[in-house]
Amino acid sequence: MDHFRPVRGVLHAEGVSLERLAARVGTPTYVYSEATLRRHYRVVDQAFGGAPHLVCYSVKASGNLALLASLARWGSGFDVVSGGELARVLAAGGDPGRTVFAGVGKTEAEMAFALRTGIGMFNVESAEELEALDRVGRRLRRRAPFAIRVNPGVDAGTHRHISTGLPTSKFGVPFEEARRLYTRARRMRGLRARGVDCHIGSQLTRLGPLAAALRQVAGLYRVLRAEGHPLEWLDVGGGLGIRYRDEEPPSPDRWAATVRAATRDTEATVLVEPGRVLVGNAGVLLTRVLYRKRAGGRTLVVVDAGMNDLLRPALYGAEHAIVPVRARRGRSRVVDVVGPVCESTDVLGRDRRLVLPEAGELLAIRGAGAYGMSMASTYNGRPRPAEVLVSGKRARVVRRRERVEDLWRGEAAGR
Ligand code: LLP
Repeated sequence: MDHFRPVRGVLHAEGVSLERLAARVGTPTYVYSEATLRRHYRVVDQAFGGAPHLVCYSVKASGNLALLASLARWGSGFDVVSGGELARVLAAGGDPGRTVFAGVGKTEAEMAFALRTGIGMFNVESAEELEALDRVGRRLRRRAPFAIRVNPGVDAGTHRHISTGLPTSKFGVPFEEARRLYTRARRMRGLRARGVDCHIGSQLTRLGPLAAALRQVAGLYRVLRAEGHPLEWLDVGGGLGIRYRDEEPPSPDRWAATVRAATRDTEATVLVEPGRVLVGNAGVLLTRVLYRKRAGGRTLVVVDAGMNDLLRPALYGAEHAIVPVRARRGRSRVVDVVGPVCESTDVLGRDRRLVLPEAGELLAIRGAGAYGMSMASTYNGRPRPAEVLVSGKRARVVRRRERVEDLWRGEAAGR
């Protein structure tokens, strides 16, 4: 469910015409619907009902301060993977005590920063990282709350770039090693075991692998509790998929039911780290058609957004729905929608059936709210898009369009 709908033939975000918005702020622009984000947050939160749980929005999906501030207001916690993301959460008014810090390569400086803020939990991914965290804890005379991220060794059945639970993946540690690490940590004075963590991958469209992984993770949690480890939090990660074109991901209710069934007899507070399912379909990338051309029997529509603005199609072969902002009658044909970047992979949509748009017309690339702006770069000397948050009839620029001067800030021409 989202709040992007045509009104008299023109696509709107809630009460705002995307045509008028583009005239005001230009293109390419990311447009988010706050009502959609709020709805998704509520649906996920309520899917856990009265069971003790904490939703920790995964900041990597989209870290704009305005989105984080809204989520914090609704009671969300956060999942961060760097000191930079944690600083964002703080700047947006998020609660570090309801924030977890994951990632295989945390530096000691990042650990110290997070510990000083009162971070809820470090999700630790290796023995050496655990030792580093202990050193940091002792130096600051605190016990760093931690979970070991276990790698359950399951195939999540998603794109190989976003599968993280395979035995060969760089994430987490195997069960036996995890257990040994909790035992060792008892003697480390800079540490305090608080939970167990896992995450098997992203854009999950089947629940079987998750259920299998969580049964094992819940088993480990119970064993550790029985051994006297003072655990409270069972973090099951994120990963619930969304519909981009014709996928049929499970509903948040079914996903939550799977998580609850697997974790029920642990008495843990269950942490979930959704990113995509909250923000993915709450955002579109608004772009304008520059030119049409023919090449090798194909019709190309060249637009002003490229793979630097939205990397997913080029990197994962992701298929985002692309729709005209103003519906037009006419014969549709099959076109490729391509960006201006000097790379053959800069194709935003291949073999799309569209009424051939004229130069100057607007297109909306749907499902761009997650891993869109957060993965944008300035490749080819292209300033990153503006970001707009719509709420009802109000459209607020929550990140101004980058200027070319911004692109060489910090550089020195020298002589
Ligand atoms: N927790 C952990 C430990 C993660 O690694 C991730 C995503 C999440 C939570 C959030 O997953 P989500 O609910 O959004 O699926 N750039 C890729 C996705 C990379 C996901 C990385 N980790 C894409 O555009 O599809």
